[in-house]
Amino acid sequence: MKALVLAGGAGTRLRPITHTSAKQLVPVANKPVLFYGLEAIRDAGVTDVGIIVGDTHAEIEAAVGDGAALDISVTYIRQGAPLGLAHCVLIARDFLGEEEFVMYLGDNFLIGGITALVDEFRAGSCDAQILLTKVDNPSQFGVAELGRDGQVVSLVEKPTNPTSDLALVGVYMFRAGIHEAVRAIKPSWRSELEITDALQWLIDSGRQVRPHLVSGYWKDTGRLEDMLECNRQVLETIEPRVTGSVDVHSQLIGRVVVEEGAVIERSTVRGPAIIGRDSVVRDTYVGPFTSIYFGCTLEDTEIEHSIVLEESTIRGVSRIEDSLIGKQVEVSPSSALPRAHRLMLGDHSRVSIA
Ligand code: DAU
Repeated sequence: MKALVLAGGAGTRLRPITHTSAKQLVPVANKPVLFYGLEAIRDAGVTDVGIIVGDTHAEIEAAVGDGAALDISVTYIRQGAPLGLAHCVLIARDFLGEEEFVMYLGDNFLIGGITALVDEFRAGSCDAQILLTKVDNPSQFGVAELGRDGQVVSLVEKPTNPTSDLALVGVYMFRAGIHEAVRAIKPSWRSELEITDALQWLIDSGRQVRPHLVSGYWKDTGRLEDMLECNRQVLETIEPRVTGSVDVHSQLIGRVVVEEGAVIERSTVRGPAIIGRDSVVRDTYVGPFTSIYFGCTLEDTEIEHSIVLEESTIRGVSRIEDSLIGKQVEVSPSSALPRAHRLMLGDHSRVSIA
């Protein structure tokens, strides 16, 4: 069995972070979201992994390399433009050959892994297996309608009037029949080759598409709120560990990880929280559900329920909450007159000032 991981695409909902960076590399508890998927694939016993990459290919390739650090072997497949999930299968034809494969969307996050699902699929003979879960906002996903016998009747991508509340989770399993399907379908109204249309084609051709309802934790990390929630879920499970230095005037409360080279001085860190490698936290309060990535500086600041990406500096800011702060960002107060907010924000930034 092989795996096809999708790490191209545009990432419009996490702008401005994704104007310049791959959304699949935004860290959850200081580990890129993509790595959780790759580890789940490896843990299911699949080590031959193709990764679809687009404009952000250099960054993804730098992070994942040949996969050896994750005990997988990676082949990169370049997609010229984000032409749809089924287009990814189309261009991966040579890599996939006739083998069965699991397709994993690189921005999806599943707690509990995929081992049982992969085993179930391998033991059976259906042409495709899809994962479904109940959601409150089905029109933001691919939606499946099941018949009375529990079989899939129809699949529609982001319907305006959804016929069910069952959303497609971004993990799919296929046998070689899917290649005929992706060749047969036409681009949708949004000019993408939709995997939902390819699945519908299989159903209409009398092939077996097996639904599997998942009740565990799943998130598409495409939006800020979902990203913060994933971070919260993972931080709840971390084991406290201090390999950096913490001075006698500082307090670590609850589950706190202080990574190597990090320095905590005259500060309180109330877990669950993680302070990344070589970051400095001075005269600061770090509250629950906060992940500070590597090389950051926090001084005279209060921050909670937030993610800060690498090498950012926050000084003298009394309270930051529910925030995602990009790489090499600087946030500081100014004493210059006139007293005013002075901002240099990327396109599509969102700022809420108290
Ligand atoms: O998260 C589950 C949902 O994922 C499903 O319910 C939908 O049916 C499915 O279409 C997908 O919807 P999204 O709008 O979230 O897809 P997105 O454009 O975010 O792409 C998902 C991943 O695949 C992401 O890591 C980017 C990558 N991708 C996407 C496209 C369209 C590619 O690598 N190439 C592409 O052409």
